Amino acid sequence: MRAVVLSVLLAPCLAAEPEVADFGKTVDGTAVQIYTLKNDKGITAKVMTRGATLVQLHTPDRSGGTDDVILGWDSVAGYESEDNQYFGCTTGRVCNRIAKGKFSLDGKDYTLAINNEPNHLHGGVERSLDKVVWKAKGYSNDRGHGVRFSYTSPDGEEGYPGKLSVKVTYFLAKDAPRLSITYVATTDKATPVNLTNHAYFNLGGAGSDTVLNHQLQLNADNYTPCDDTLIPTGDIATVDGTPLDFRKMKKIGARIEKLTDTAALGYDHNFVLNPKQDKDKTHNLAAVLRDPESGRTLRIMTQEPGIQFYSGNFLKGQQGKDGKTYAHRSALCLETQHFPDSVNHDNFPSTILEPGKEYRTSTLLIFGTFEKKKK
Ligand code: GAL
Repeated sequence: MRAVVLSVLLAPCLAAEPEVADFGKTVDGTAVQIYTLKNDKGITAKVMTRGATLVQLHTPDRSGGTDDVILGWDSVAGYESEDNQYFGCTTGRVCNRIAKGKFSLDGKDYTLAINNEPNHLHGGVERSLDKVVWKAKGYSNDRGHGVRFSYTSPDGEEGYPGKLSVKVTYFLAKDAPRLSITYVATTDKATPVNLTNHAYFNLGGAGSDTVLNHQLQLNADNYTPCDDTLIPTGDIATVDGTPLDFRKMKKIGARIEKLTDTAALGYDHNFVLNPKQDKDKTHNLAAVLRDPESGRTLRIMTQEPGIQFYSGNFLKGQQGKDGKTYAHRSALCLETQHFPDSVNHDNFPSTILEPGKEYRTSTLLIFGTFEKKKK
């Protein structure tokens, strides 16, 4: 009897921990590990310590086949190459753009690296969160398997004030097709923080030709219009009557050509999410993506106020995992976030983290399938 009680009590702790393996070394010789999370719903996610990056994400299609639906590489060298456009990484300290790399905080002016002329993009050049190697710990409990990444960014790293401690946890639910990404940060000086994940999805499988045949719905009546360098003007404008109206499910390719000759080169816009309808729910619906071919769906729920929909306009045919080619617009990003350049716009929700306060936010990726319409 005692043994039965004991095993019931211990069962959650005894669940097998996520498998960990060596993934190679960075150019400066730092070892990188990769963790595997698996569940009963046919989902496998692999995450590595360089950049707390999502490297693989296998999900079932409507006929029971499985594909890896995100772009990436088979080695650290691929991630360190010029071809890497933030594939799957944790992006920060501040994702998206900061105008001319400048901001003022508590009476002090700060200047950051200009790595996307004339602006600062995705946290900087050498020590942005996507490029550093994080500490990691795999764990399991009765709800599923996870990996906790942690990194402490010293005061002044990439020009940002304050020593910032960041934790990113990937958690794959045991009995639901759901991967959650939770971000927690604390600082010793006021500093801007805006963290996201930069996975490139193609629900037909990474390396499929295009995402223009995917359908998208965004829970957004408004977006933040930008100048020619993709910096928000500060306005909040309606999507009504524009190619950005995804309030009803729309094929991505249907109106994209109207945007090809704009500064965004396609879709590359921050959408302002409508307020959460159900106050009891922890997360707001942000996006629903569907691929009619494979039948896969992805629902994104978040605690962030915005989402950047980027249609892979800079993908250039680089070769990734399994020698597959990543053509122009063959994958897309849906980056949950605070609005771009918030640090220079008082009317946007603030991205400033104060000492003694905790930054905490999470985003859920929920996979599913839908049946083909009967003709
Ligand atoms: C996106 C951004 C794009 C581009 C891309 C990386 O988040 O919106 O403009 O910079 O990252 O290539």
